[in-house]
Amino acid sequence: MIEGMSVRKSRRGEVEPFYAMELMKFANIKSAEGADVISLCLGQPSDGAPAPVLEAAARALASGSALGYTDASGLLELREQIASHYLAYYGVEVDPERVQVTTGSSAGFTAVILAAFDAGDEVVMTRPGYPAYRNVLAAHGCHVIEIDCGPESGFQPTIEMLEALPVAPAGLVVASPSNPTGTIIAPEQLAAIAAWCEDHGTLLISDEIYHGISFGAPTASVLQSSQNHVAVGSFSKYYCMTGWRIGWLIVPDELARRVELLLGNLNLSTPTLSQIAAIEAFSAEAKPELDAHVAKYRRNRDLVLSRLPDLGVTGFVVPDGAFYVYPDVSHLTDDSLAWCLKVLDETAVTLTPGIDFAPVIAGRTSTTDGSRFIRISTAGASEEIEEAFDRLVAWV
Ligand SMILES: Cc1ncc(COP(=O)(O)O)c(C=O)c1O
Repeated sequence: MIEGMSVRKSRRGEVEPFYAMELMKFANIKSAEGADVISLCLGQPSDGAPAPVLEAAARALASGSALGYTDASGLLELREQIASHYLAYYGVEVDPERVQVTTGSSAGFTAVILAAFDAGDEVVMTRPGYPAYRNVLAAHGCHVIEIDCGPESGFQPTIEMLEALPVAPAGLVVASPSNPTGTIIAPEQLAAIAAWCEDHGTLLISDEIYHGISFGAPTASVLQSSQNHVAVGSFSKYYCMTGWRIGWLIVPDELARRVELLLGNLNLSTPTLSQIAAIEAFSAEAKPELDAHVAKYRRNRDLVLSRLPDLGVTGFVVPDGAFYVYPDVSHLTDDSLAWCLKVLDETAVTLTPGIDFAPVIAGRTSTTDGSRFIRISTAGASEEIEEAFDRLVAWV
């Protein structure tokens, strides 16, 4: 290379960090140095995949199969299982042709963004919302519009908020249960949002990856109201297969072939071992094991809510599902990133700063600013959460 010349870089590659991942990286360094780190920053189950999944994977490995590529959309048997799951769980018939198996739901998002939106298209998401939507949409040249969703609306969008948009967007992404707040959109509300989108030519991408982890409130699929929107699913959360990197999309008929072609070019196929094993995730034997984890997440949520007042926190919305609590800690800090880094450094507890989910916008202050929130993951062991709170309370 010519001396003094810098390596070519794209503007769209300048993505913001995903701070939960950054915190995990720092925590791993601290752990390698010998610190007794407790991680409450990552949204991943601390339990492994259920027994039938592990047994299927062991059988596949022992069979000596080459485990080569599969169809780009995934193994037909798995796609049929996913379709049957929609019939059993939501009462919705889904043609397996519309099911696209993806490398985690993350890869599904990339495929659907490419299939449905052009650079410059406006896509709306909630604030707070999952950071990768914002960062990946922006990397693909989409214009991301965040709508402020505070505690009054359970951190979820309302029709009034959509009506207040200056123009109907090309896309809307919602998540229920949500990350970071764990709140659920009521079935009739989701149906109303889907209808609004249909009337306005907006593609609704309904992130349903936390379905199964609800503490009582019903979790509706967008497919119960319309077949013209996209449902996103994953084996990472309820099914405890996070590192197996496998998820799925249910797309409208008109998008199925496009998504298939995109997936075939982007990833070729989803890891074959994970696909074979995931077929068993829907089995009757797996369910009691998985539901026991959900009972634990609920106990952990209650534990965290009961300990928050010890930190002086009084403002929080009770999560309906998922494994997060998203309290307002503005009495402790107005810079959640600096605070979380200090907490990690001085107590060896990792928390996620709210700016991951609602970055501060220059020249504007809002009660949804993530600088005043933190996300606490309740996916781990209850004893660790107790111990983390003991450390935090002593430190605060
Ligand atoms: C709301 C939401 N959507 C999507 C993802 C991506 O998950 P995966 O790629 O493991 O399916 C996550 C991960 O935490 C998430 O919280």
